[in-house]
Amino acid sequence: MTDSYTIDVIPGDGIGQEVIPAATACLDLVAERHGFALHWRDREWGSDYYRSTGRMLPVDGLEQLSTGDAVFLGAVGDVDIPDDVTLWGLLIPIRREFEQYINLRPNRTLPGVPSPLAGDRQLDVLVVRENVEGEYSEIGGRFRRGRPDEFALQEAVFTRQGIARVTRFAAELAAGRTGRLVSATKSNGIIHTMPFWDEVVRETAADFPGVTVDKVLIDALAARVVSAPESLDVIVASNLFGDILSDLAAAVAGSLGVAPSANLNPEREHPSLFEPVHGSAPDIAGKGWANPVAAIWAGAMMLRHLGRPEAADDLESAFGAVLAGGTRTRDLGGSASTGDFTEAVLVALRG
Ligand code: NAI
Ligand code: MG
Repeated sequence: MTDSYTIDVIPGDGIGQEVIPAATACLDLVAERHGFALHWRDREWGSDYYRSTGRMLPVDGLEQLSTGDAVFLGAVGDVDIPDDVTLWGLLIPIRREFEQYINLRPNRTLPGVPSPLAGDRQLDVLVVRENVEGEYSEIGGRFRRGRPDEFALQEAVFTRQGIARVTRFAAELAAGRTGRLVSATKSNGIIHTMPFWDEVVRETAADFPGVTVDKVLIDALAARVVSAPESLDVIVASNLFGDILSDLAAAVAGSLGVAPSANLNPEREHPSLFEPVHGSAPDIAGKGWANPVAAIWAGAMMLRHLGRPEAADDLESAFGAVLAGGTRTRDLGGSASTGDFTEAVLVALRG
């Protein structure tokens, strides 16, 4: 087994600069204890880089990343720069160029993290979001700009291959869990792409005899995340539906500050990217309040992907134990700073 991995680390903007150093400190320690090393290549790309160069990424940025084992990202987004510039300038090109067609977002209630739902509701939902096509397309335009009859068109792109591969990935996960797969749809209102989605999901899942597929309309499904979260296990969803549902599930699990995600190229032809679900949080940036759990957990997902499941388990147990022990950041109603929380995880890892 390799004993060293090259990771490109892009802290990015806002609290990305706070949660990423917190996570890399934990990752370095857990790696050391498991006898391997993480070689970080620091990439100061993002909004500051954009202000000085007009680009979020260097011209050969993707080429530079292509030689690493994985990418670890904080967040991008800045109040002075339009969000479509930051997103389409960095994250979306990486996802698409590296064919990271799976966006995996686990959401589960953690010990010591209260859900905003009344009662002691438990949630353990894996959202598998299609990550490179669907509603987030470049096809369309703005027409008759500035006139009273101005309009905009935006075309969604759904391919048989794209729907089938995300379904296969989700069905495999479901087979290893409860066998219940929910497909998020809207085939009553969106009459071309969504019936096609339903059809390809059904055909693909038929190859998994132990898996049942339940197609649920996205509006009802959103309600169900809140009213009956225990009834959900693995959800397969298009790019837009998966994006919204996973933020909702994260909020139900306690906070965006504890939600991790992986952007995976399952064939491993390109590096995969691991990041917290949250953004740059300009409202709290620089205050030392950011919850590092989402970033640390994303780091654990990266270790699992690199073939280090024991190290990933240790890291998840460590932050779980710290939360269960009552050390919490402000978003969870505690008073620990990012640094306090991280220090507690390091102590737990040293055991
Ligand atoms: P956000 O996730 O940055 O913040 C939403 C709310 O959650 C804020 O009140 C924030 O303080 C809180 N929050 C988020 N993460 C937290 C953490 N770790 N600890 C404690 N509290 C936390 O989303 P928002 O405000 O919609 O977007 C801010 C910027 O981030 C925008 O420029 C947006 O485009 C960008 N963004 C970037 C993403 C990425 O890089 N993947 C994802 C989402 C947003
Ligand atoms: Mg989102």
